[in-house]
Amino acid sequence: MATALAPAKVILFGEHAVVYGEPALAAAIDLEARVSVRPAGVTTVNGNPLSSQHHVHLVHALQVTEAPHFDITTASGIPSAAGLGSSAALTTATVAAVLQHLGRFDPERTARLAYEAEWRAQGGRGSPTDTSTVSAGGGVLVDRPPGEGEPLWTIERGERTWALRRVTLPPMTLVVGHTQERGRTADEVAKVARFAKRQGTFAREVFAEIGGVARDGMRALTANDLPAAGKLMERNHRLLTILGVSTPKLDRLCAAAMRHAHGAKLTGSGGGGSMIALPTDVEKCADAIRRAGGVPYTVHLGARGVRVFAGEVPA
Ligand code: MEV
Repeated sequence: MATALAPAKVILFGEHAVVYGEPALAAAIDLEARVSVRPAGVTTVNGNPLSSQHHVHLVHALQVTEAPHFDITTASGIPSAAGLGSSAALTTATVAAVLQHLGRFDPERTARLAYEAEWRAQGGRGSPTDTSTVSAGGGVLVDRPPGEGEPLWTIERGERTWALRRVTLPPMTLVVGHTQERGRTADEVAKVARFAKRQGTFAREVFAEIGGVARDGMRALTANDLPAAGKLMERNHRLLTILGVSTPKLDRLCAAAMRHAHGAKLTGSGGGGSMIALPTDVEKCADAIRRAGGVPYTVHLGARGVRVFAGEVPA
């Protein structure tokens, strides 16, 4: 038997444009998913038969690891379809637990296989941002090679190469505002792909501008210049609005949070899901989000990447 724990993530800057080769900055946060695998005659998930309809991410995670049959137990403290990487955490934890069982676990192999599984689950689209951040933990910059920061690994897909780099971010508290509207990454990534096809040069200009904001945002955050980082978050949000992935509720939660924050933006794929705020006052910011109809979570950056254990781990 083997168990893996994987953190949730937030994208601080650069979502969507990263799929087109622009930089993005993501960080693991202190919410977690857990997966245990125990050898069995036929694969089950929480006591139910494995289903390609209900367990899309698990099916792909098991396929890419060529896993034998297991009784799989999952538990997650990460709200699903909330832009916080719940499916990346579940996929990564499953891959890691299987690799641990097979005696082949290491974070880089986990990141590669988890990305392969996510990419398949998202209909052949997306970047390795979420799965690599969940695998590595801490702060992760996804960039064109060579990029800035300490190298983690490089992942290639078709014409793109993403260099994953570790970035040391100062300890930071964020307020997440969950809209309670489901944002499906596959749908939003497909929507942006249609925008890119329709708009051609204009779309490429928007992606490049998001990339510039992500680079400046990383510099502002690593220098602990929160007012500058906040302004860049707002600009990033406006650019994401042009891509069509914000919603009236995300805009409303960002506007409400801004009264007690350096900046706010949607995080992850959008189309629902969550926004993040860099608060000047955590309690007041969370309260403003609640009053505007969102569910606030206070989260901290700097969570560890995926961890594996032989056997069960007490909850
Ligand atoms: C989703 O968390 C991040 C996106 O950029 C998609 C991806 O990178 O695969 C929207």
